[in-house]
Amino acid sequence: MPETDVDVSTGAATGDGRDAGESFEPRITAFVCNWCTYTGADLAGTSRLPMASNVRIIRLPCTGRIDHLFVVKAFERGADGVIVSGCHPADCHYTAGNYHARRRFGVFRELLSFLGVDPLRLTFSWVSASEGAKWADVVNETVARVRELGPFDAYHRLADAPLPDGDPFAVVDGATRGSRETTGGATDAPAGGPGTPATGADGSAA
Ligand code: FES
Repeated sequence: MPETDVDVSTGAATGDGRDAGESFEPRITAFVCNWCTYTGADLAGTSRLPMASNVRIIRLPCTGRIDHLFVVKAFERGADGVIVSGCHPADCHYTAGNYHARRRFGVFRELLSFLGVDPLRLTFSWVSASEGAKWADVVNETVARVRELGPFDAYHRLADAPLPDGDPFAVVDGATRGSRETTGGATDAPAGGPGTPATGADGSAA
C-alpha cells in the first residue's frame, strides 16, 4: 500500500509541507447527521469535555446523504482521517438513512483499500444527541489512531507526480484545452480583447 512509504519516524517533510513525527497534527473531517451526532458534538462542547481540536465538522441532514465521494474528496483536499457518524440504528429521523449508510460504507471500505487509503483512516460510528461523552471518545480515539498512521500524503504524491512522456491523456487534455480556449474566446471574450476574435452570427469576424 502506498502509505507504507511514509516514514513517520524520520520527521521528514511530507508532500504537503507538514512535518511528520512529533509535530504532526492530524486533520480530521467529520461528516455527521444533523439530528443526532451534531447535537451530541454540541453537547460535548457545551459540557467542556476534554477533546482533541483536530476535527472539522460538516453537518448533513442524515448519514444517508453522505456520499462516499465526499470522503474521497476530503482525503483529496488534505484530510488525514475522516469520521462518519449519525443516529443509532432505528433512530434515523428519515427512517432508514443510517441503514443505507452502513451498507454503503461497508462496501466502501474495500474501495478505500483499492484507492490506497488505509481503511483505519475512516471511522464510522453511531452517536446520539445525548452521547456527548461518546463523541469525545470517538474524536480522541480517531485522532490518536491517525496520528500513529502519520500524515496522509499518498494522494498528493500521486496527483503531483508529472505525467509520463507520451501519456495519451496528456494529448487528449491538450486538445480539449485548445478547443475550450477557441470556444470560450468566441463566446465570452470581450470584443477586441485577447484570445480568439469573436465571430458574428454568420460566422464572419465581428
Ligand atoms: Fe441521523 Fe438519519 S437522521 S442518521
